[in-house]
Amino acid sequence: MESPSPFATDFVWGVATASYQIEGAYDEDGRSMSIWDTFSRVPGAIDNGDTGDVACDHYHRWRQDFDLLDELGVNAYRFSIAWPRVIPGGTGAVNSKGLDFYSALVDDLLERGVTPFVTLYHWDLPQAMQDRGGWPSRDTAYAYADYAAVVVKALGDRVTNWTTFNEPLCSAWLGHLEGSMAPGIKDIKAAVPAGFHLHLAHGLGMQVIRAEATLPPHAGIVVNLSPTAAATDRPEDIAAAVRADGHTNRWWLDPLFGRGYPQDMVECYGVEPPVQGNDLETIAQPLDYLGVNYYFREVVVDDPAKGGPRVSGVRVPGAVETHMGWEVYAKGLEDILVRVAEDYQPAEIYITENGSAFPDVVEADGSINDVGRVNYLVDHVEAVAAATRRGAPIKGYFAWSLLDNFEWAYGYDKRFGIVRVDYRTQERTIKASGRKYAEIIADHQAAAKA
Ligand code: FCB
Repeated sequence: MESPSPFATDFVWGVATASYQIEGAYDEDGRSMSIWDTFSRVPGAIDNGDTGDVACDHYHRWRQDFDLLDELGVNAYRFSIAWPRVIPGGTGAVNSKGLDFYSALVDDLLERGVTPFVTLYHWDLPQAMQDRGGWPSRDTAYAYADYAAVVVKALGDRVTNWTTFNEPLCSAWLGHLEGSMAPGIKDIKAAVPAGFHLHLAHGLGMQVIRAEATLPPHAGIVVNLSPTAAATDRPEDIAAAVRADGHTNRWWLDPLFGRGYPQDMVECYGVEPPVQGNDLETIAQPLDYLGVNYYFREVVVDDPAKGGPRVSGVRVPGAVETHMGWEVYAKGLEDILVRVAEDYQPAEIYITENGSAFPDVVEADGSINDVGRVNYLVDHVEAVAAATRRGAPIKGYFAWSLLDNFEWAYGYDKRFGIVRVDYRTQERTIKASGRKYAEIIADHQAAAKA
């Protein structure tokens, strides 16, 4: 650490995962197909034809995986619930075996002194809901609220930290505009309603959590944000950077904070969100916290031929990049945290995901000296500290991810874990980055207590 820790003694240090990316057991104990099971079977949709059928087999190995939490010394674990395990038909009958699985996870975490942060939706919509229209349909928002009520009633006597949605941007823009994620649609006329119904479902979900939880809930949403910059000083590119900011940041934040949808972007898309009655008030439920996922900044140029925001990202010459081709830019995390704190004044902020993929090398002795990921982690935690010193109300940090896992359209080739998974044997090995994270946590905790 460069200077005394700015983090309080109760700072949350966690790791994050998501159901479809780690669980496997895709057809066990009554789980139905999700849109990702369907999408991963579309030829060419996923690198190497990978699917989440087995993934990290966490469904059977979770106890062993939770031992890793103890070894890392984290005090929180963020995971998501698979709707298709809990209500296989999307609506209607509840599958008690699905709830039992998550209930056991929660009990075990609490016994270990690890605080659960539960995400109700991390992209695995039941295929049955997609067949009835998916997120472009308003009914999906109501179905989500019913599903949320079932989970919150079952776990709300032990869980307090709830997240309605993970990254609605990706569901809407990547799933319905770019088509690179499930359900693979490429149509702004589907993407804008999808995004709107995700927002609406979030607002309904907040109401349900507050009505149904036994323990006083601490509830919010997770958005992925990126500072945007123009690649040149041409006026067209400067305007493109404003649109990129609208597309990535303002479109998602403004309605959550009671500002409605940014008018410049409504005009840019040429599609109005299908708002009815007091929907905008429903969406703007007070948040106990805002979760921010950060991976990279966006450096863009004007691209009139492109759909949606009509921008293209460009690579920054000389930049260090991860295996995803994403620029390593820790200052962007500090910048976006300070900007969100100033512009939107959330009560609390958690960094709910942050991490990097690198092509790891296993040494002859089995160790993984993932220097790139170690550097990324150190620099980004330092950026969180810097934003805290500048007044952002940051209460916690979650590393993405506990385990190497199914990285959506990139399959298993892109490894984000601070623990390696050997997919042939399902063996887990803590990487140098995992050891470093344990050290960072211990150092900050000792400094906070001093
Ligand atoms: C985020 C997702 C998460 C993971 C990381 C790398 O967009 O929330 O599931 O795939 O990216």
